[in-house]
Amino acid sequence: MTQPRVLIFDTTLRDGEQSPGATMNVAEKLAVAKQLARLKVDIIEAGFPFASPGDFEAVQTIAGEVGLPDGPVICGLARATKGDIEAAAKAIAPAAKGRIHTFLATSDIHMKYKLKKSRAEVLSITEEMVSYAKSFTDDIEFSPEDAGRSEPEFLYQVLERAIQSGATTLNIPDTVGYLTPGEFGDLIRGIKANVPSIQKAVISVHGHNDLGLAVANFLEAVKAGARQLECTINGIGERAGNAALEELVMALHVRRQYYNPFFGLPVESEAPLTNINTQEIYKASRLVSNMTGMLVQPNKAIVGANAFAHESGIHQDGVLKNRLTYEIMDAQSIGLNNNLIVLGKHSGRNAFRTRLSELGFELSDQDLNKAFLRFKDVADKKKEISDRDLEAIVNNEILQVAEHFKLDLIQVSCGSNAQPTATITVRMPDGRDLTDASVGTGPVDAIYRAINRIVDIENDLIEYSVQSVTAGIDAMGEVTIRVRNGDRIYSGHAANTDIVVASAYAYINALNRLYAAMQAGVAIHPQHANVPVGTGV
Ligand code: KIV
Ligand code: ZN
Repeated sequence: MTQPRVLIFDTTLRDGEQSPGATMNVAEKLAVAKQLARLKVDIIEAGFPFASPGDFEAVQTIAGEVGLPDGPVICGLARATKGDIEAAAKAIAPAAKGRIHTFLATSDIHMKYKLKKSRAEVLSITEEMVSYAKSFTDDIEFSPEDAGRSEPEFLYQVLERAIQSGATTLNIPDTVGYLTPGEFGDLIRGIKANVPSIQKAVISVHGHNDLGLAVANFLEAVKAGARQLECTINGIGERAGNAALEELVMALHVRRQYYNPFFGLPVESEAPLTNINTQEIYKASRLVSNMTGMLVQPNKAIVGANAFAHESGIHQDGVLKNRLTYEIMDAQSIGLNNNLIVLGKHSGRNAFRTRLSELGFELSDQDLNKAFLRFKDVADKKKEISDRDLEAIVNNEILQVAEHFKLDLIQVSCGSNAQPTATITVRMPDGRDLTDASVGTGPVDAIYRAINRIVDIENDLIEYSVQSVTAGIDAMGEVTIRVRNGDRIYSGHAANTDIVVASAYAYINALNRLYAAMQAGVAIHPQHANVPVGTGV
């Protein structure tokens, strides 16, 4: 199947969410899915519905609210079992265009140790489960997990069997991030040459960044004929992450002339090679970082704070004389507007609502009121409110996890020759207000110890970071933390002009996530859980 562009399959909400600590609740996933729709990705892999009732609800909600006739395809992941496939089929049902993505490992090492199945059994489960998925919807994606380390001749047989059973997309995962670009390209060429019915399916690629090669591997796969790329915003995902959407899209955009011939297009063709609205990239990156607590490194390609550093003050002599001396792309092409100052203390509710809606936030009247009060509060302390501040306000006030524990009082004293001391009042899930105090090595330590005396949930703080939202002495500070409970990690995030207060809110935010997970029960991991494949559930 040939087409003059690649399909972008975003798996931020599935593989991305599998990163330790990146768990999002339904409202947060919906906000990300809406931004992915504005970005115009072709397919959203919205989650793994069988994992937990919360995951099921998230996929179903996204299918209903984002899976509109002119919107993206909504996909649900399923292991090759009837139970998983039924859950995925039910969850994607509200979408105008729904897809089931089922997978089964094909490498010798996975078949022997994880599945405990022979090659013949894997072939027959592929046939049975792809056919079963096909009984629910026409759009079926099949992945031979760990394809990168699978024996090629066996891989070709499995792929042919999947197509014969109804798969319309064949996804080739480099599950452990092992391949090099040349090898990935050869793998795709081998599949095109040796799978007899390959013309009936779209070839997709999925890969992890363990050796930092995921994007390079995908671009080589595109040259060899892959026409769907599975990627995530900011490259988040299992271990070292997935291929980053923004890097793939901008590589195909900026270097279009190099890639055009591989699509059968004339070198000079201006036709876009993806359907992505690149101007929405930066916003998507910020939103995912805020929702998951996964910070973007400053030198990250495309969306890192330094990626367009000369745009924001560190002007290079050459750039001043001619931008093209050092720049290969325009910051505005990814929607970076250089922190335009938009609102201030005297801005009214209408200006506030209008700017939020331009930024992609459509709030209910109740949420708008809440955010507006917070905006006024920040504007009292900080003269100029930028888009980044507005994002922080909305992310902080509206897109929060349920407040099982609510901070009612934070009082801290610290300074030189003083013992840092914090007094905290927390509204508990049963409505009681509990107050306690603690000293600490610093104000944040004192706050966290006081909160721990009230909220008795075992956890270790494993990461704490504070970043300013914008430049300037009066900037808001964003605090991101990660706590560990057993083998699970939870993140917390908050913004405030007072970083000590933001630290307290970030910690309560992480504890609320941890508490919610304890209530809901831990979700199944699609690739680690040891369940029988095939007809079992
Ligand atoms: O990395 C992987 O192999 C996966 C599959 C489920 C496609 O995420
Ligand atoms: Zn993966």
